[in-house]
Amino acid sequence: MNTLFVGQNLITLESVDSTNTFLLDSSNTENLVEGTVVYAKRQIKGRGQRDNVWISEGEKSFCVSVLFYPKIELSYQFTFNKCIALALVSSFNILGVKSFIKWPNDILVNDKKIAGVLIENSVRDKKLQKSIVGIGINANNNCSDIENAISLKEVFKNEIDIKVLLPTLCHELEKYYLLFRSDKKQIQELYNSLLYKKDSSVNFSKNGNPFTAVVKEVDNLGRLVLVEEGQEKAYSMGELRFNFS
Ligand code: BTN
Repeated sequence: MNTLFVGQNLITLESVDSTNTFLLDSSNTENLVEGTVVYAKRQIKGRGQRDNVWISEGEKSFCVSVLFYPKIELSYQFTFNKCIALALVSSFNILGVKSFIKWPNDILVNDKKIAGVLIENSVRDKKLQKSIVGIGINANNNCSDIENAISLKEVFKNEIDIKVLLPTLCHELEKYYLLFRSDKKQIQELYNSLLYKKDSSVNFSKNGNPFTAVVKEVDNLGRLVLVEEGQEKAYSMGELRFNFS
């Protein structure tokens, strides 16, 4: 592993319910170093955002969780999330795939989701002490039955060597985490430059009511800023739905 700390302590599991749950439990009972990675060949009960399940297909899906101790003020919590999304986009770039970030941190290729992120934080003394970053990548699995999803195999029209994903991802996570520590403004700018549908008119709905607005940016607090009839308005997570046409 060509890194300073991410992935230096690597726990590889043949099978697990959820890598996030495993890492959360382990980090509560033992002193794990920052950058500890849990990689599972099979994940049986993957968890997604908003209590959704994350479906994996045996060894064809890529499932990993990474431990960070950001120790940052809560106001920077979403900037930390942004650096994770950037690491994923950068990893896909290295593989030769152009991707975008759909707010808050889904990674899309050809308008379809290729990777998802579940970040679980522990807060103490108004600081983000511990963060479990769970990443699921559609690698060699078949996504044709899942709405708006795509896998690397489907992009390349060929199976990929799943082994290359781990060192690439660890390297990029470390790179963007270090950039986050040194230059938060650059993280904000990079994230916004890769925002899905930036400057485009998109159909949304709020409380079931559809509306159309132009995507401007994601602000420092992690709110999506839209322009509706010339007026800017920032929306928090959970307030909005993208209506795919
Ligand atoms: C989402 O888009 O809803 C987030 C999906 C996150 C899935 C990953 S797979 C590895 C890690 N372990 C889990 O149980 N979930 C995350």
